[in-house]
Amino acid sequence: MVRNFFDPSDLSDLSDPSDLSDLSDLSDLSDLSDLSDLSDLSDPSDPSDLSDLSDPSDLSDPSDLSDPSDLSDPSDPSDLNRKQTMKTPNEIPTPSGTASDLLRALHWRYAVKRFDPERRIPEEIWSAIEESLVLTPSSFGLQPWRFVVVTNPEVKAQLPAISWGQQQPKDCSHLVVIATLRSMDTTYVDRFLASVSSTRNVPIDSLANYRKVILGFLNNSAERIGDWATQQGYIALGQLMSTAAYLGIDACPMEGIEPAKYDRLLGLENSQYATRIACALGYRHEQDGYANSAKVRFDATGVIQRLD
Ligand SMILES: Cc1cc2nc3c(=O)[nH]c(=O)nc-3n(C[C@H](O)[C@H](O)[C@H](O)COP(=O)(O)O)c2cc1C
Repeated sequence: MVRNFFDPSDLSDLSDPSDLSDLSDLSDLSDLSDLSDLSDLSDPSDPSDLSDLSDPSDLSDPSDLSDPSDLSDPSDPSDLNRKQTMKTPNEIPTPSGTASDLLRALHWRYAVKRFDPERRIPEEIWSAIEESLVLTPSSFGLQPWRFVVVTNPEVKAQLPAISWGQQQPKDCSHLVVIATLRSMDTTYVDRFLASVSSTRNVPIDSLANYRKVILGFLNNSAERIGDWATQQGYIALGQLMSTAAYLGIDACPMEGIEPAKYDRLLGLENSQYATRIACALGYRHEQDGYANSAKVRFDATGVIQRLD
């Protein structure tokens, strides 16, 4: 029998959460969607009206993401009151994008070396990009990240010096700095579980076994948890790049930065979050020669192994 660790009802016989301290025990735990067993407890109201999906007012306050003062206390209970009003997946019609539209976007994108500093991403498009960041999936659903959005010109001007001399963070329209948890504590987990409980309208007690599993995972070293959180950050990076391409927004993913100096500049130094990666977004400069370079990729036969 394959145990479904993400279904709280399937964990009743777990006696010792420390048994789960080795991540390898959890290798098949990649999908919080199995909590959908609880979906019938939520209230599927008004399935017809999707018009508000594009309404930026639907977003939880994006300014929260860029305010370093908000980073010091992740246990802030007021966070829990910021109820998000998201549709359930089944309330959304199955997307009907074509394969050619998708591939056009993915072939169109490239890692921009030179942005047009005169062009700024319109607010409604930026709102969708932020929503895409918020929607990034994560292991256990724990969302161990903060996305710091930098548009301030004075701050941007200081970034090339701490980005291996790269100009993209200065010239882009919006820079997203992906910061992830340095470690994780019980308070954070309980904050997350309170969010599951209130969002899905289930008693917190029904999540007790799920909590045990997550706390078992926390038995790993702080370094391991920090690495795990960083890996989650890369998932957000991938989703961000694809989202941008889909919307015709250019991007450059950036590991060529000095994270500790970013932390200092962005006020993250004494927070629970540390800079891991960045992504510059905006519009390619018409003289960015890389836009005319052929894509270098191994042939599919070299990277895709099929077992038919
Ligand atoms: C995690 C990651 C970090 C990267 N860091 C940088 C960077 O610091 N500067 C840069 O110009 N490109 C950076 N790149 C871009 C890669 O070099 C580029 O994606 C790769 O060569 C493939 O080219 P393409 O994205 O143009 O198709 C990075 C890419 C990834 C995925």
